[in-house]
Amino acid sequence: KEEAPSPAEKPAESAPAGAQSAAPQGTPYEVKVPLGLPPLPIPEDNPMTVEKIELGKMLYFDKRVSADGSVSCATCHDPNMAWAEHTPTSKGIHGQVGTRNAPTVINAAYATSQFWDGRAKTLEEQALGPVANPIEMGHTIEGMVQTLDGIPQYKELFQKVFGTGVTPENFAKAIAAFERTVLSGNSPYDRYRAGDQNALTEAQKRGLKVFEESGCADCHTPPLFSSYEFYNAGVGMNKEKPDEGRKAVTGKDEDFGKFRVPSLREVANTAPYFHDGSAATLEEAVAVMAAGGIDNPHRSEEFDTVREAKITPEQQKDLVEFLKALSGEFPKVEPPQLP
Ligand code: HEM
Ligand code: HEM
Repeated sequence: KEEAPSPAEKPAESAPAGAQSAAPQGTPYEVKVPLGLPPLPIPEDNPMTVEKIELGKMLYFDKRVSADGSVSCATCHDPNMAWAEHTPTSKGIHGQVGTRNAPTVINAAYATSQFWDGRAKTLEEQALGPVANPIEMGHTIEGMVQTLDGIPQYKELFQKVFGTGVTPENFAKAIAAFERTVLSGNSPYDRYRAGDQNALTEAQKRGLKVFEESGCADCHTPPLFSSYEFYNAGVGMNKEKPDEGRKAVTGKDEDFGKFRVPSLREVANTAPYFHDGSAATLEEAVAVMAAGGIDNPHRSEEFDTVREAKITPEQQKDLVEFLKALSGEFPKVEPPQLP
């Protein structure tokens, strides 16, 4: 059952081809997909090269990308915090607090859309979002390009990697190429699937069974543990001003309060949980899910399967143990020397 192909296995549609044919070759990067993950989708117009990934890594860590030089991507998606952060919602420039929890960048390369509401299609499209978000990096795209263009070494690196100068498109491509190296697999679960019967504890094996038989896997579909579909779990819906979620993207009432199913890989390392960071611990998040979500008029009926399974407190504990088996190996990256 867990071998069912997930939508993530379809290579992502590539962004419209730009004037990239003139780009220099660079050193092809040899993708090593960890055990348990499907082939990595790479857009045709953004091939991975060693030089591009290096550039993307610099940009990822460079605070000069924000308006006042105070935050970088790594501020909110910190490699030392499993490429996420441990606060419910992020603090951006001038200490401004947003309303959503920063998802991990780990395995984002497989998602069929980006952001909790899926408003960006690809990593390339996503990357410019935070730069111009007034609460996150508070810059303008033009301002950011101007800053980078004024740093001779960046100018040179962009020229070398893309054959053109610093452009928003190239900025996004370099960062996306770097993000595609941030993968996690080879977890105890993956080793178990590969035949190592001892890779999971007894509690984890029981938890896996509950996960499969209670409907969790219908939405948190292996191997990425997400179908990347959108549902309303009732989380945050009883607040005074609930986040309208997917509705802001589609305009449809039926999408009110729906959020993209998060991948559960590395989930034990990315507390707090949910789109608003409202569950402080994995135990709490599992309790909400095991109850089939929180009642509200928009709750998705897909949660009924879980509700009908009547998961016991013992089974919840096993589920938590099982989810810990989805923590594998991911890159530990040090901030690079910046130009
Ligand atoms: C979402 C990367 C800067 C906070 C995301 C996602 C990616 C990403 C790939 C989508 C993940 C997913 O949907 O699973 C980046 C990059 C950045 C950057 C490359 C630098 C250019 C920041 C900063 C902050 C931040 C500085 C905090 C101030 C968030 C939040 C979300 C998010 C809160 C979820 C927003 C939503 O769903 O509406 N980021 N990020 N990010 N990031 Fe960042
Ligand atoms: C969120 C586990 C069933 C859809 C989560 C999270 C966990 C989890 C740990 C938090 C992840 C994070 O924030 O990074 C489980 C378990 C399930 C289950 C153990 C079975 C008992 C389901 C089902 C669906 C679903 C059946 C689809 C109908 C979602 C959605 C979220 C989520 C949409 C994000 C909700 C929000 O932030 O508003 N799940 N899940 N889950 N799950 Fe599940």
